[in-house]
Amino acid sequence: MFSAQLTVDRDFPVAPLDRRLFGVFVEHLGRCVYTGIYEPGHPTAEEQGFRGDVMALTKELGATIVRYPGGNFMSGYNWEDGVGPKEQRPRRLDLAWFSTETNQVGTNEFVDWCGKVGIAPMYGVNLGTRGPDEARHYLEYCNHPSGTALSDLRRSHGYEQPHGIRFWCLGNEMDGPWQICRKTPDEYGRLAQETAKLMKMVDPTVELAACGSSAYDMPTYGVWEDRVLEHCFEQVDYLSLHSYFVKPPTDTSSESFFAQIETNARYIEDTIAVADAVAARKRSSKRLMLSFDEWNVWYRARHGEHMKREGWPEAPRLLEEVYTAEDALLIGGMLTMMMNHADRLKVACLAQLVNVIGPIMTEPGGPAWRQTIFHPFAQAARWARGTVLRPAIQSPGYANEKYGELPYLCASVVDDRATGTTAVFLLNRHLSDAMNLCITLRGLGGERELVAAKQLHHADLEAANTAAEPDKVAPTALGGVVIDGEQLQVRLLPASWNVVVTRVARS
Ligand code: AHR
Repeated sequence: MFSAQLTVDRDFPVAPLDRRLFGVFVEHLGRCVYTGIYEPGHPTAEEQGFRGDVMALTKELGATIVRYPGGNFMSGYNWEDGVGPKEQRPRRLDLAWFSTETNQVGTNEFVDWCGKVGIAPMYGVNLGTRGPDEARHYLEYCNHPSGTALSDLRRSHGYEQPHGIRFWCLGNEMDGPWQICRKTPDEYGRLAQETAKLMKMVDPTVELAACGSSAYDMPTYGVWEDRVLEHCFEQVDYLSLHSYFVKPPTDTSSESFFAQIETNARYIEDTIAVADAVAARKRSSKRLMLSFDEWNVWYRARHGEHMKREGWPEAPRLLEEVYTAEDALLIGGMLTMMMNHADRLKVACLAQLVNVIGPIMTEPGGPAWRQTIFHPFAQAARWARGTVLRPAIQSPGYANEKYGELPYLCASVVDDRATGTTAVFLLNRHLSDAMNLCITLRGLGGERELVAAKQLHHADLEAANTAAEPDKVAPTALGGVVIDGEQLQVRLLPASWNVVVTRVARS
């Protein structure tokens, strides 16, 4: 057992939390769409063929925005293939995942699905094989009210009202050698600039994200951001980041695995530095915001995914990572870190939602269940509301080769002045020792009462949820929270993720 302190002060905010930090991602990839969200004939399917069990779990997950239709798939996608009568839609070769795309789910059905689960859509335009002309037409089809060929085409497809899709990605991972029609930074920067210009002419209310590097360790990281923004800085609103956390065979320690929280904090801060350097060069006071629109653990189901597979299968089993208790802890720690960057990080999408590196798994014709990583995400999405406060952490730590001493405690605190509710999110990275934690909520109101206290811990860090044992790793009550005025005392189990929610007591 060891002791640690966490202090926040009402007068030291980071920023209001943008709830779009709890986004997810649905790509036409493997079984994410087909037999994931959509499976006509499934016992729980509703009239449009969407799985009711997956819709229920998606609502429980509490995601706020969903990126669609890719990913790499976006760079070869013709949106026109996925609208209009289903029986007339073409079957296409998907070169991103060497699969056959049936187009039975497209733009309009996905907007319907978003409405049914209460999530805002975030769409992307194809800047791989296509460009500004397709992008402006796609936006006109989606968002223009009526009276033009494309808006009237949408209406003829049964969608009288415009979809009003606000957030758009300008392509996907355009720096990646695997990308369909990869670009150089100057090619992409110009393409993003002109595409953004036309899209804002069609609908000035849209928010646009340019592609940053596809990973922090891409050899062109930094240079890519700088060159791209040199062209499109004025036209775009966000720059994207993508990160998949791995466990290299050369270093399988949990301590190193959890240090990826610091790696990704540095990724965010370095990206802000590059964006702000471009602003300085342009004598601009504009501050670009970040969209971390792909992030998750992904290393087990990651071999040969870009290789040609025989037979161009429909909805093959791809990227079906089975998550462990250890992964859930890293996801929880990442969420605390991302909340603590709320001043510049406004959007983030856990990649993806179902089956493909997802918090939800399904079997065709069978059950749907929560993976381990579902739980920290759902808890954060439920309780993190209001303003993020700057956490002052005093905690013993462990030595890390890259970053020196890392505190065992990772934490974020979000306070909702309107309701007097404060949520504290805590990761104890110590693998064997419990933590005695004193939390001071300075200036947030003295007389407090407990609203919720949960912990996620499993003695076996390799434990996973499966169809047979769907609740092996699940949150339990965190007992023994002592409230004394502005101070809370809690005991955190070793290797545990915890949420403590209190509010100002009503007299
Ligand atoms: O999420 C899986 C894939 O990872 C996405 O299609 C791509 O953008 C990234 O490389």
